[in-house]
Amino acid sequence: MDSQVETFLNSLGDAERAGGRVLHELTGLAQSLELREMLKKVGHDEGYYAGELAAHVRRLGGTPSNKTGDFVEKVRAVEDFRGKLELLNRGQRWVIRKIEEHVPTINDAPLKAFLVVMAEGHRVNIGALENALTAGLR
Ligand SMILES: [Fe+2]
Repeated sequence: MDSQVETFLNSLGDAERAGGRVLHELTGLAQSLELREMLKKVGHDEGYYAGELAAHVRRLGGTPSNKTGDFVEKVRAVEDFRGKLELLNRGQRWVIRKIEEHVPTINDAPLKAFLVVMAEGHRVNIGALENALTAGLR
């Protein structure tokens, strides 16, 4: 497969595995049941995206990464829970930007469709978390 596409998909996979790990940790820190449920769901989405990215890399003849990005350490380094959630959403926005940059260069139609839906899923999850923070959930 195209090595730039492989590197891009694997870097996204590393980021999603990091996101999944972060969300697992944040789920345990949430006090409200509603926020806990939301974080659990967002974490499942991250795991789903990581799995699908690996499947696309494999389908296209590449080698999927199984690394976890350094985002986990960055979120751990933030002291307060709200700051962690805000950093999480910044990381999720980074994923959307990266997808938007690369989508025009992707020729494989199923991969392109997956990436478009993955970006939209990130927009939905960012919005849900922003609403929860605005509503004062913690
Ligand atoms: Fe993500």
